[in-house]
Amino acid sequence: MAKIIPIPYTFFFFLTIILFLISTFATAISPRFSQNISPTSIGLKREGVRHLHFYFHETVGGQNATAVRVAQSPVTKTSSTEFGAVVVMDDPLTIGPELSSRIVGKAQGIYTFASQNEIGLLMVLNFVFTEGKYNGSTLSVLGRNAVLSTVREMPIVGGSGIFRFARGYAQARTHNLVNSNTVVVEYNVYVFHY
Ligand SMILES: *[C@@H]1O[C@H](CO)[C@@H](O)[C@H](O)[C@H]1NC(C)=O
Ligand SMILES: *[C@@H]1O[C@H](CO)[C@@H](O)[C@H](O)[C@H]1NC(C)=O
Repeated sequence: MAKIIPIPYTFFFFLTIILFLISTFATAISPRFSQNISPTSIGLKREGVRHLHFYFHETVGGQNATAVRVAQSPVTKTSSTEFGAVVVMDDPLTIGPELSSRIVGKAQGIYTFASQNEIGLLMVLNFVFTEGKYNGSTLSVLGRNAVLSTVREMPIVGGSGIFRFARGYAQARTHNLVNSNTVVVEYNVYVFHY
């Protein structure tokens, strides 16, 4: 009897070692879905805050339109707030208030007239920069724009390139109406990024 007892212990000892080796091997060969890394391993150094200042030019209608209405509801026609209309824009951003000043990027995206009681836009757009070291980098905006208010604030929800991990806010102020079709809006953007 006493001699039989060590056998199961030996068996379980080897079984444990075999299972351990199998699991180690399986971990080594299976692709890894997630892992902790250091910020510097993807080039993230020190986080800072940056202020960008530019002017946004939008022309609605005419042969040089930079914003086009792509959809609306039958309700839009009777709505005093254009409720239900959807517009796609590709609006130049310039360093100064004149359209002839240097272009630093474009505002590309859509806005929807999303309020029944006032002119309130849902803005979904990217600022696509072309200036210097910002060339090719973007900032993404998702927010509400009550265009008749003096200052409209919209969240910056992310970015790419130099603006990876960006978050912040944009403040828009109508600068002037060039004519009945064209508006110039001053933007101050504040973002945290690496
Ligand atoms: C459109 O742009 C062109 C080139 O800048 C200009 O010559 C023309 O007058 C513009 N047309 C309108 C309707 O503003
Ligand atoms: C921005 O980058 C693109 C693509 O690399 C290049 O063709 C273009 O000339 C650059 N623009 C400026 C203003 O540096």
